[in-house]
Amino acid sequence: MRGRFITLEGGEGAGKSTCLAFVREYLEQTGRRVVMTREPGGTELGEKIRDLLLHGRESMCVDTELLLMFAARAEHLATVIRPSLANGSDVLCDRFTDATYAYQGGGRGVPETRIQVLENWVQGDLRPDLTLLLDLPVDQGLARAGSRSAPDRFEREQLDFFERVRTSYLAAAKREPQRFRVIDASLTLPAVLEQLRNALAAMP
Ligand SMILES: Nc1ncnc2c1ncn2[C@@H]1O[C@H](COP(=O)(O)OP(=O)(O)OP(=O)(O)O)[C@@H](O)[C@H]1O
Ligand SMILES: [Mg+2]
Repeated sequence: MRGRFITLEGGEGAGKSTCLAFVREYLEQTGRRVVMTREPGGTELGEKIRDLLLHGRESMCVDTELLLMFAARAEHLATVIRPSLANGSDVLCDRFTDATYAYQGGGRGVPETRIQVLENWVQGDLRPDLTLLLDLPVDQGLARAGSRSAPDRFEREQLDFFERVRTSYLAAAKREPQRFRVIDASLTLPAVLEQLRNALAAMP
């Protein structure tokens, strides 16, 4: 049986990495094999592309950024995501194409139709089975992320960029309510985990 493809999305500091560990444990306790991975990245080549995207010193035009995201994604799908799903493992991914729509689309203003072309090209008909969207006010997320490490290329953006990212994520969730579960990530960690537990328990 094919595994399930579960993605975690949300703005900076929303708690994706924190929640990923919980989701993995939950799935493993129900007897699933889990492959945990992230985007951009998830492969040796993809992690090099991630480094260019997040920490590259040179400026980068928006199309380059978009294409690098999908270049890393193509490699990730071919060598990690598809083979893992095919052998029955659940794949749990920290960000995926919804982040491209939110950051390069909403944030940077790339027309959605351009992203759709690349999505269909690189993914065929593969889409996540479940997307957990950790939603919280931008200032709260930035405060959480800021207390952690030096800001990367995206984290150095202005507040309105992150507001557009959040708006874009929420609009996507509204368009596809059967795939998305919106989690109120502004609450305490136990309250966030409770929402995740409910969302996972409701999964087919
Ligand atoms: N519900 C919560 N309440 C308070 N603090 C939290 C909560 N969830 C996570 N945190 C803390 O917020 C910080 C950011 O969390 P985390 O790294 O999981 O976010 P992230 O979404 O993965 O961030 P990034 O987008 O930078 O990868 C961490 O210090 C984490 O311990
Ligand atoms: Mg993280």
